[in-house]
Amino acid sequence: MRNRSRVLFAAIAVSLLGGCDTLMTKTPTAGNEFAAPMDGLDQSLNAVFLQGDENFEKPFTPAEGLGPIFNNVSCEGCHPGDGRGSVETGFFRFSAGGDLLVDSGGPQHQDKVIPGIRLVPEGVPAGADRSFRLPPPVFGVGLIEAIDEQTIVDLADPDDADGDGISGRVNWVMAADFVSERHVGGGPGPHVGRFSRKSQVSSLLEQVSAAYQQDMGVTSDFIPEENFQSQHTATVSIGDIAPDPEISANTVLETVMYVRLLQPPARGRITAEVESGEVLFANLQCVACHVPTLRTGDHEMPTLANQEVALYSDLLIHDMGEGLADNRPDGDADGYEWRTAPLWGTRLVPDFLGGQEFYLHDGRATSLEEAVLLHGGEAQAARDGFAALSSTERDAVVAFLKSL
Ligand code: HEC
Ligand code: HEC
Repeated sequence: MRNRSRVLFAAIAVSLLGGCDTLMTKTPTAGNEFAAPMDGLDQSLNAVFLQGDENFEKPFTPAEGLGPIFNNVSCEGCHPGDGRGSVETGFFRFSAGGDLLVDSGGPQHQDKVIPGIRLVPEGVPAGADRSFRLPPPVFGVGLIEAIDEQTIVDLADPDDADGDGISGRVNWVMAADFVSERHVGGGPGPHVGRFSRKSQVSSLLEQVSAAYQQDMGVTSDFIPEENFQSQHTATVSIGDIAPDPEISANTVLETVMYVRLLQPPARGRITAEVESGEVLFANLQCVACHVPTLRTGDHEMPTLANQEVALYSDLLIHDMGEGLADNRPDGDADGYEWRTAPLWGTRLVPDFLGGQEFYLHDGRATSLEEAVLLHGGEAQAARDGFAALSSTERDAVVAFLKSL
């Protein structure tokens, strides 16, 4: 959360004191807030949101449960300002074929260990496939969660029945045991994956619990076992000094609620150039994957129910060709497939990253134009169409992307 938002929360605190029931009924200064809650939260939800925000920012120490192996000390450390991380805060996953290499520290590479413990940062077995992942933004994920499974399933065209060269598949995944059917994406049987770079996670609860345990080494009631490599535990039987579970289910649920209720940024200024870019974006069939809006279904929280969600993604996985392939399967996704990156908030990318820009799953593109030109596979025709535009037209497409 940034300073600007602190002002916002001071304002909320004041209105709380005033006893007003519904807070923040309107979007704050369009899009300048990265950590604003959805409109119309009642007092008790707002309190959870504020607590979750604190959880999200909290840097863990070894005494509080950090480690023994970890990637970063806080959620915020990797998702600055609730936005996306940079190439410095990403991490890689590794595996070999279907083998997650759990005994060698897979499938996630933790590059740090807490001090005072005779562990070394993880090595990666020779021949393992690595997949570097940039942290995506966390705003708007509650709206993504509130889209009915069927809405996403209906967009899939796995056999390209309509012959447009664009298929798009659902990443069907199994939920972790601790995610009950009360949660979207939870319970037995296959579920629509919708979170993370390959849509390999079906529920926010699993995403966040695993972030605590895998990314920070913080155990919870949901995942109470510490994450260390068995090659290390043979010689070292202690992890950190904090007893497991290190945080309660309640803390995890507050953090889940925080990201669930984070509002996506509002659209930027719509100029004539932006409008012509939008037409080109449609004509080039970018919209076949970057579906401009999806609708949420019924929801117990009115602010998430039956909303138009302008995320510019179908949440499906697409074969993006050899160039972008990581050759590493994830859930049902193969080594060529990636989730259509939601494009909302694109105009704020440099703001999250101190003026820098990183795009695509691993941040290899440092401009929007480069990101589009690196599309392949199912997106080859759209990419070639973009490459064939005049420079004025290309600028218009970029201007459109920078208005999202
Ligand atoms: C070490 C860096 C790191 C830390 C710490 C971290 N994340 Fe992430 N987060 C990532 C990366 C990388 C991904 C994408 C993973 C992938 O694609 O496999 C991600 C994905 C997510 C997503 C899915 C977003 C989407 O669009 O699908 C959510 C939500 C999320 N993280 C929330 C959190 C929360 C909450 C915490 C703290 C409990 C946290 N993260 C801690 C790096 C991090
Ligand atoms: C076949 C589906 C498909 C089509 C068609 C497509 N995209 Fe994409 N796009 C994707 C996927 C999948 C990703 C994520 C790739 C990755 O993570 O490496 C992506 C990523 C992007 C990104 C990077 C976003 C980010 O935050 O990293 C931009 C910008 C983008 N697309 C713009 C476009 C434009 C403009 C067009 C039309 C010329 C287009 N795309 C056509 C599927 C598609």
